[in-house]
Amino acid sequence: MQLNAPLDMHLHLRDGEMLHNIAHASATTFSGGLIMPNLVPPIQTKEAVIAYKNRILDAIGNEDFTPYMTLFFLPTYDKAFLSSMKAYITAIKLYPAGITTNSEGGVSGFDVETLRPTLEAMSQLDIPLCIHGETNGFVMDREAEFATIYERLATAFPKLKIIMEHITTKTSVALLDAYDNLYATITLHHLLITLDDVAGGMLQPHLFCKPIAKRPEDREALLKVALEAHPKVMFGSDSAPHPKDAKEACGCAAGVFTAPIALQVLTALFEKHHALNNLQAFVSTNAQNIYGITPIPKIVTLEKKNFTVPQTYNGVVPMYAGETLSYSIQGVSS
Ligand code: NCD
Ligand code: ZN
Repeated sequence: MQLNAPLDMHLHLRDGEMLHNIAHASATTFSGGLIMPNLVPPIQTKEAVIAYKNRILDAIGNEDFTPYMTLFFLPTYDKAFLSSMKAYITAIKLYPAGITTNSEGGVSGFDVETLRPTLEAMSQLDIPLCIHGETNGFVMDREAEFATIYERLATAFPKLKIIMEHITTKTSVALLDAYDNLYATITLHHLLITLDDVAGGMLQPHLFCKPIAKRPEDREALLKVALEAHPKVMFGSDSAPHPKDAKEACGCAAGVFTAPIALQVLTALFEKHHALNNLQAFVSTNAQNIYGITPIPKIVTLEKKNFTVPQTYNGVVPMYAGETLSYSIQGVSS
């Protein structure tokens, strides 16, 4: 099985020591990734984007990997600023205030008129808007409650490309076909687990993430559009590393670290569902079409050979730590 230029369109690479510890896990097998801006402080200026991109390039060394950069959304960005940013970023990421890791400076309330100047400018400049779509309601309902906000924004800005990030519900899946300008990323873990896997038996902190995994029928709806490589969905791992002691703690940080196992597990999953022919579109071609990007060629060959997942990668526990997967990475060439 070969994949050409796999792309991870929702990736947390962090900064400092963590960046150096985990960047290789993505850069060795992916051709590029859309880098989330939820650092402390968030990435909100041209200087910050350029400096962060350089730190990422430094951390990945000689690997052929493109960090597609994002800005942390502020409703105060004006058209002149955004126009000057267009060459440096691939998208802008909007977080509701306080909804997830390092999102305190996000948006409160989704008043269209307040957001209009920035969103109108993004629409005119063709800069996609990526949204973490959750309200601050009951945890299982947060994403479904956000659907009306997606609908309002999609209607008010029909030319703005809006990417519903890491969707977890059948409600969000239904929006894809209802609005021309709504797209979505889907993670690996939300194709595999439900809330039962997180909290149905002994609590599994390494599967705890935002948005929380939902019900079996939600997972089925996500699987359907991923396996058919619906042209409006893309793979975005939301691989979100936290140190082991921040996960195995009272007050566990949200995030699942999947970068080192993502392609092996996706291949096994698509094979199981007789959908291997659609994997290339799900992990690369759809994202190329949606974002209008041309990634660095990178051929990743996967073979059906057992691979035992290490317990930790530089102090971070990956999904399926210690378990044996049925596919391995055989080689990577350009
Ligand atoms: C992410 C993180 O740790 O940065 N956590 C997560 O549970 N997914 C933030 C996010 O994408 O919500
Ligand atoms: Zn994320």
